[in-house]
Amino acid sequence: MRELLLATKNRGKLLELQKLLGGASEVRLLTALDFPNIQEPEETGTTFEENAQLKALYYAEHTGLACVADDSGLVVDALGGRPGVLSARYAPTDAERIAKLLEEMRDVPDSHRSARFVCAAAFAVPHPTPQVVALERGELEGWIARDPRGTNGFGFDPVFFVAELGCHLAEVPAEVKNTISHRARAFAKLRPHLEKWVKEPL
Ligand code: IMP
Repeated sequence: MRELLLATKNRGKLLELQKLLGGASEVRLLTALDFPNIQEPEETGTTFEENAQLKALYYAEHTGLACVADDSGLVVDALGGRPGVLSARYAPTDAERIAKLLEEMRDVPDSHRSARFVCAAAFAVPHPTPQVVALERGELEGWIARDPRGTNGFGFDPVFFVAELGCHLAEVPAEVKNTISHRARAFAKLRPHLEKWVKEPL
């Protein structure tokens, strides 16, 4: 049985990733929570791709396991792309992040409230030397709403109006989010690389 490490301690994300990657009986999924002594790396990249690669490589190196990492965030056009790679550090809690975003967007007219969730997903293996063998990106287009709606998901989901669903992301169940989300799209592209690795380990 192969072991694959998901390089995140964010429980909301873990739940989504386990659902997105689960199902392959030949793979046992571990998470960064199984390695409490390994400190999380600093996300020093300026792009989602840089951060995803940096995290996948770091955990592959420190655990000796094949490793999947993602970096994601919210890109708001009216804010010049912010909070972007700094989404998690925009404010201390989900509630504060939402309040700050709505305040920053208060005077932005409806026509200029476009935004997207972006996810970069990287797959790294430890041998013969730690290396990234796949890197993919997924995006979900939408608009920043004026008020939160819905209780599902996490992060900015309550204020993200999804164009293709016609409702806020936090209003749909996980099964629906998992078919269209930026993470689902990035991981759908990563999956063939993982399946190849399961069959012919690098
Ligand atoms: P990361 O852990 O560095 O990838 O930071 C992700 C941050 O972006 C989270 O803390 C959220 O604020 C935001 N984010 C990423 N994906 C989502 C999502 O699916 N829904 C809502 N917020 C998200």
